[in-house]
Amino acid sequence: MVKQLPLQQSQLDQLIERMEAVQPDPPSFGTPVGCSRATGRKHPVYLGIVKWFVTMHTTSVRKGRQFLMGETHAGPAWYLNSTTDDLTVGSPLIDLDVLDTHKLFTDEGYRYKAVFCDRGKPRAIIQQLRYAIEAGRFGTGGEVDVLHGPFEEVLPPYLDALHGKGLCGVLFVDANGSMSRAMVEMFQTYAYQLRYVDICIWHQANVRRRFNGLHPSATQPGGAWYGAFQKYDYRPLRELLPDLGKRRWLIRKPFNVGNGTAWTMLVGSNWDKLPEWRAGEMYRLDSPMGQAILTECDG
Ligand SMILES: C[S@@+](CC[C@H](N)C(=O)[O-])C[C@H]1O[C@@H](n2cnc3c(N)ncnc32)[C@H](O)[C@@H]1O
Repeated sequence: MVKQLPLQQSQLDQLIERMEAVQPDPPSFGTPVGCSRATGRKHPVYLGIVKWFVTMHTTSVRKGRQFLMGETHAGPAWYLNSTTDDLTVGSPLIDLDVLDTHKLFTDEGYRYKAVFCDRGKPRAIIQQLRYAIEAGRFGTGGEVDVLHGPFEEVLPPYLDALHGKGLCGVLFVDANGSMSRAMVEMFQTYAYQLRYVDICIWHQANVRRRFNGLHPSATQPGGAWYGAFQKYDYRPLRELLPDLGKRRWLIRKPFNVGNGTAWTMLVGSNWDKLPEWRAGEMYRLDSPMGQAILTECDG
């Protein structure tokens, strides 16, 4: 289970109140968009992680790097979770709230860049994301872009336009818990430009167990899992992670958000001294604890 995180929870409650004042009847997008029961429960953990990344990059920003925070799978800004009936603020508003209240961007005069991609099915996700950011007065400390389309199509031109800016920061990947081949390819292609931009991936810890015992024909053309195997890279993390262009990795102790799915988080960075974050239960992949978690995931 997720540990009780009262501070994070009260900050989320404040965000919910702020959005209730702006849009008293939040839309309900249902579950087809992939924001399942689990999404809201991951948010207290997520909020702590976003803060941790900003702190980690503070020195780089002061030395002149442009801070970038991005999401490949942004999701809606604010909605009624139709499975739980909970009012839920989505991760983009959490990101912007953390950034807009950080001293780098309130007192020290730096400006961040934030970019949110969503394929927008339904399109209302995008419209509401843009509306909530504007009406809720988010993004006061930087420039925010909301890109409509699959991240693998819309993010590369955005990154190309930032070429030469000397970026630092973090890109979050929150798909459905599997890593797509398109994601692996994008991080390979942009490895140099993103060398000081960390990547942070939500991952279903036991995703590979789904395939244990499958008949080989299931993954062949015509098989029930053929499409999934075309789209996702299900190699063991031990093989897959080295292809993402980062030298150091942290892995979070898997936790269960109550729907039977164990989630972990992977943080990739080129910072050789990337610290463990024990309070956040993030361990270096090359530590005994990290190796034990990896073995559990790859089993
Ligand atoms: C799990 S939800 C995101 C939840 C959100 N990060 C949060 O924590 O509040 C996944 C989102 O990814 C979007 N999506 C799925 N495939 C995508 C792709 N290839 N590119 C961009 N967005 C995608 C879906 O529309 C959905 O809104």
